[in-house]
Amino acid sequence: MSTLKEKRRLVAGNWKMNLDLKAGCDLATEVVEQLGKSDFPVVFCAPAIHLHALSDIVKDASNVYSGAQDISSHESGAHTGEISGGQLKSVGCSYVLVGHSERRAFHGETGDLLAAKISQALANDLTPIYCFGETLDQRQADQEEEVVARQLHEGFAHLDAPAMKNVVLAYEPCWAIGTGITASPAQAQAIHKFVRSWLNERFGDSVANTTTILYGGSVKPGNANELFSQPDIDGGLIGGASLKPADFIAIVNA
Ligand code: PGA
Repeated sequence: MSTLKEKRRLVAGNWKMNLDLKAGCDLATEVVEQLGKSDFPVVFCAPAIHLHALSDIVKDASNVYSGAQDISSHESGAHTGEISGGQLKSVGCSYVLVGHSERRAFHGETGDLLAAKISQALANDLTPIYCFGETLDQRQADQEEEVVARQLHEGFAHLDAPAMKNVVLAYEPCWAIGTGITASPAQAQAIHKFVRSWLNERFGDSVANTTTILYGGSVKPGNANELFSQPDIDGGLIGGASLKPADFIAIVNA
C-alpha cells in the first residue's frame, strides 16, 4: 500500500521561454524514452506553441503530461494574445502553471486575476499548479508565513474543499528561483508544513493530507533527494535543470 506522501508525488519541468519547437520535442522524446514507466505524474510545462506536438509525444507514455505556463482569466472573446483553458484542453494539455513569480513580478498579475485563472483551469478540467512564495526582502523581514498565507487566501478563497482537491501547490521562494541558491531542506519543510496546516484549517484534513505541495527554486540532481525526503515536500517544480534531460531524469528519480 502506498503512503499518502507517495500518492502526492509529482515532478514538473518549467521550460519558461526556452527551446524552439524541435528542441522541445527532442527533449521531451528523450525524457519519455529514458524515464520508461513512471509511478507518478511527470509534467512538461512548455511554451504554448509547443503544446500540441508535445501532447502527442506524451500521450502513450505512462504518467507523463503536457502543461501550459499560463492561462487566460477569461473564457473566450476579444482578448488578443491570450489563450483560454478550453483552447489548452483542446491541444491535449493537462496542467497549467498559475501565479509563477515571474508573471506576478513582470506581468503585474494580482490575486484577483490569479483566482480567476484558477477558476478557468478547473472549469476546463486542467490541473492548476499554483505558485507562491516570498521575496528576499520579505524573508529577511520574517514575513514569509504572512506572505504565503495571503497568496494562498487570494488564490483559493473562492473554492470549496472538493474543488481544492484538483489543485497542486508549488512553494517557490523568489530568492531561490534561477539564482543557484536553494532553500535549505529545513527552510522549505517549515513552509510546506505551514501550508499544510493552512489547508487543514481552511479546507479540513482530507484536503491537507492529499494536496501535492511542490518545492521550486534551484532544484538540482545534487539537492533533490534531501528536499524530497522532507515529510511535507511531495516533489518539485524544476526550471533550469528541466532543460537538461539527464538532470531532469535524475531529479524525477530522486
Ligand atoms: P529554477 O526555476 O529551478 O531555475 O530555479 C524554478 C522555477 O522558476 O519554476
